[in-house]
Amino acid sequence: MTSPGVAKAPRTAVQAVSALEEARRRTLALVESVSDADLERVHSPLMSPLVWDLAHIAAYEDLWLVHRYGERPLLREDLAASYDAFETPRAVRGDIELLDAGQARNYLAEVRTRTVKVIDERGVGDGTLHEMVLRHEHQHDETMVQTLQLARLEQYELVGRRPDPDSPRPSFTGLEMVEIPAGPCTIGAGDGEFAFDNERPRHATDVRGYLMGQTAVTNATYLTFVEGGGYERREWWSDEGWAWKEEYDITRPGDWTADLTAEWRLGKLEPLHPDRPVVHVSWFEAEAFARAHGARLPTEVEWEKAATWDQAAGKARRYPWGAHRPVPGVHANLDHGGGGTASAGAYPAGASPYGCLGMIGDVWEWTATRFGGYAGFVAHPYREYSEVFFGAEYRVLRGGSWATRTPVATPTFRNWDYPQRRQIFAGIRITRDA
Ligand code: AVJ
Ligand code: FE
Repeated sequence: MTSPGVAKAPRTAVQAVSALEEARRRTLALVESVSDADLERVHSPLMSPLVWDLAHIAAYEDLWLVHRYGERPLLREDLAASYDAFETPRAVRGDIELLDAGQARNYLAEVRTRTVKVIDERGVGDGTLHEMVLRHEHQHDETMVQTLQLARLEQYELVGRRPDPDSPRPSFTGLEMVEIPAGPCTIGAGDGEFAFDNERPRHATDVRGYLMGQTAVTNATYLTFVEGGGYERREWWSDEGWAWKEEYDITRPGDWTADLTAEWRLGKLEPLHPDRPVVHVSWFEAEAFARAHGARLPTEVEWEKAATWDQAAGKARRYPWGAHRPVPGVHANLDHGGGGTASAGAYPAGASPYGCLGMIGDVWEWTATRFGGYAGFVAHPYREYSEVFFGAEYRVLRGGSWATRTPVATPTFRNWDYPQRRQIFAGIRITRDA
């Protein structure tokens, strides 16, 4: 029996170092044109100062790859508590003394030197901890893109690929449905691949037939909901959702301005694009939208079955990229440091086995499911990665966004957030009973 989280083919030391270096290039590129003052400032009460993310990335790497794996003392024991996400939650990160921008960059570099030394001496073992630390940095990159978007920095320079051009004619609305037949499917990550603890154990289950949105819901479709009284019709909202909407006077998605234009690209005002998925909606809004259309949000199992299961072939199948990863710009809209959503259905080469489009990348998709452990869940390697978040409050999101780094956006990856959150790049895919 393999241990939870074990990687199939251990990465070689050389591969691990080059992947860590590539991650670091992206992290530093994201903040390269940001002034030290903007790195140290709190731009949104929901987010950490960027300089906290930077030093936290370093502290996490030092803890797991140098201290635990390499069995050496921490470089900065004195910083451990400040940069532990659990001991120092986001709300207080702006109030405590933090490393300044220069010190945070040095901390990153010094830890990396130690990490490489440990790898030179000991290799990477089964590769699990190195892959976890790598994907941790990738995940914080998306968090930093959220912060950068909220900060609306004047001088910010985009990083990475631009989204592909929009389709000349609208093809999808988000209301076209694909039929998914009743029957068995397999959920969760297999033993032979890296995954976070909450994606295991893989298990077989069974679902009734259902209809799944072929694409995410577009801005044009969401606009008809807004103009059709979407935020006024009480019957479309849950009690909790209505109370939230009333309290914060929510009348449109988080990035729409009063004249219905969206700041979809970092720091730049662009007209709201009708064919791109609506983004920056809360779970409450997603649920109300679905109800207004006689639909509902998919369960996690329904989402994963539609993404990965091939009933006809009688076996679980990955996306067209097979055991490899999607190619950004070919299979999916992924891996932008700056950029944004693409037209719904823009990547037919990345269709799921049932013909659902854009399930990976573009926008995270809210599911109806509360975040919890699969039966037989075992925390690995630490409870604070996911177990402490299990419970009724957090909702699961699936699929990744345009800002998600490619290795993180797997069909079994489970993201989670509060139902009221809108700074994440989250949109809507609806489901209906067959
Ligand atoms: C999986 C995105 C909810 O940002 O809180 C980062 C990822 N875990 N550092 C988060 C994570 C530890 C996590 N999410
Ligand atoms: Fe973290």
